[in-house]
Amino acid sequence: MRKKIIAGNWKMNKTPSEAKALIEELKPLCNNKDVDVVFCVPAIDIPAALAAVKGSKIAIGAENMYFEESGAFTGEISPAMLNDLGVKYVIIGHSERRQYFAETDETVNKKVLKAFEHGITPIICCGESLTQREQGVTMDFIRMQIKIAFLGVTPEQAKKAVIAYEPIWAIGTGKVATSEQAEEVCGGIRACIKELYGTAVANAIRIQYGGSVSASSAPELFAQKNIDGGLVGGASLKPDFGKIVNYNK
Ligand code: 13P
Repeated sequence: MRKKIIAGNWKMNKTPSEAKALIEELKPLCNNKDVDVVFCVPAIDIPAALAAVKGSKIAIGAENMYFEESGAFTGEISPAMLNDLGVKYVIIGHSERRQYFAETDETVNKKVLKAFEHGITPIICCGESLTQREQGVTMDFIRMQIKIAFLGVTPEQAKKAVIAYEPIWAIGTGKVATSEQAEEVCGGIRACIKELYGTAVANAIRIQYGGSVSASSAPELFAQKNIDGGLVGGASLKPDFGKIVNYNK
């Protein structure tokens, strides 16, 4: 009943001209009517990416944005700027932004609220470290991340949000979570959303898994009851991404 959503997170890769070439290569491979496909690209690549996806159903997303409307915030990009270009999604609170750029659950919450205000769908990231997993506090930690990220978000907005569960130990390591591990946490996130908003929102919200997703791991991961697609890093820069989008073919 929930449509799958598979997004590539390009991170800090590809110049604008490389972005155009990569999208031209991937575009014919990313046709699957059962899946919403999103390419989240570096801000500087967005105009080239939007031009390159024309005529396809692929949406373009940003990898970050700021939570103020405008003003003296050197180097930042506002939601209105993204919206004006035609950006439909924005990744919020990726673990790399939390780790290297001091983002917190509170800034994540401000960004989520702003994205909704401007009609951009946030892809809200959460996920535990290896230490947290080993200490058995994975679900406590993620429930806190989710509860803060959704402060002040209305049920109508929450329904449209995308959550990406990305265990930090699985990102860029080639160490993908087992489908049981991923399903357990994604189910726990859905239960947390149900506590906050009730059954209808919990049934509608889409929850992705991210962390070393590959063409070989995608089919089993995306077949899990509570996993509605993926947020893909490394493999989104290769023709393999087409295989991930067509995971059910
Ligand atoms: P990898 O797929 O390279 O592990 O990256 C996952 C990720 O961080 C997507 O946001």
